[in-house]
Amino acid sequence: MATPSTQDAHPTLLIPGPIEVSDDVTKSMGKFAQSHVGMPFVTVFGETLTMLRGLFQTKNPKSQPFVIAGSGTLGWDLVAANLVEPGEEVLVLHTGYFADSFADCFETYGAKPTQLKAPIGQRPQLPEVEKALKEKKYKAITVTHVDTSTGVLSKVAALSELVKKVSPETLLIVDGVCSIGAEELHFDDMNVDVALTASQKAIGCPPGLSIMMVSERAMDVFKNRKSPPGSYYASFKNWLPIMQNYEAKKPSYFATPPTQLVHALHTALTALLKNPISERFEKHKKVSDRVKNTVSALGLKQLASDPDNQAHAMTAIYLPDGLTPPEILPKLMDRGVIFAGGLHKEIATKYIRFGHMGVSVTDDENRGEIDKALKALEEGLAEVQKAKGQQ
Ligand SMILES: Cc1ncc(COP(=O)(O)O)c(C=O)c1O
Repeated sequence: MATPSTQDAHPTLLIPGPIEVSDDVTKSMGKFAQSHVGMPFVTVFGETLTMLRGLFQTKNPKSQPFVIAGSGTLGWDLVAANLVEPGEEVLVLHTGYFADSFADCFETYGAKPTQLKAPIGQRPQLPEVEKALKEKKYKAITVTHVDTSTGVLSKVAALSELVKKVSPETLLIVDGVCSIGAEELHFDDMNVDVALTASQKAIGCPPGLSIMMVSERAMDVFKNRKSPPGSYYASFKNWLPIMQNYEAKKPSYFATPPTQLVHALHTALTALLKNPISERFEKHKKVSDRVKNTVSALGLKQLASDPDNQAHAMTAIYLPDGLTPPEILPKLMDRGVIFAGGLHKEIATKYIRFGHMGVSVTDDENRGEIDKALKALEEGLAEVQKAKGQQ
């Protein structure tokens, strides 16, 4: 269980978020107390917001970053409370658990979500999306870039092209909680209106921050709302001036930001943007290929059986018949590795999830955590199968 770091020895966290964080990020979490409106913190927050433009790959100065205390879920509330009005229709593309929750969130604010579902391990196909978009006027379409319950990757560029062609006024909302920082997402080139994420996944920060980029067009939609936003804490009206002021290095207050977490995000983004972001995506692909090849060599199947549907930040792996997550996960823990159990309601007891993103991937050569995990998986499975007389 040794870790090559200044952190206490601990089993390697390889669930699809939260993930392992660097020593520098851990150190930033221990930053001394600062005033949230004093210049040292205001400067760090302002730089953090500006760095997000690099992470999301937007050069439009009117794209608006938000960083708000909360988790990824708050991103859904921000979208539903600010960009959609009660009674408006939203098309939710479903590739797993998280679309159900996003749809629930829309309903909470009085919007009308329609889910377009695909069989487990697949994603809705473009002709089906086109047909749906032609049937009704949708205010927004949402896509889960990587659904963390299934490991299914959606192709944002192709979807965006289709939306622009068939229903150009529909806002394109990308739930990138399990993708931003690991999967290619080019906010400007892909004409994305909202990309929402959280601090604890591929960005490599502890949990606690909702992070979002909103297009100029979506901010205009917000400004032209007929009804006020349906939330107080999640209202753009309250947060927009705060984000603009911080980025302009001016103190501002609506609700207290978590100062240490913002320092940690600043540290994580500084490291992330040191090299071209394309290299980071390539590295995640390479490691993901290694994981998936080994998983196949062990005779295991993935929920996303078609390589075209497979995420590069995680792998959702079916267990051999008769084995359940509570049998295998402790065997991995014995070997210093933490994976997650299944999450998709219909098959949760049949599979496990391996998150491979952030420092475990970018610093793979030094950390060796991916190979440790693959070895633990092979040995753990063999141990359980032997005990059950399956081998
Ligand atoms: C794709 C996706 N969307 C949204 C969420 C919700 O994020 P949080 O748990 O940080 O609230 C998650 C969480 O894992 C997720 O994977």
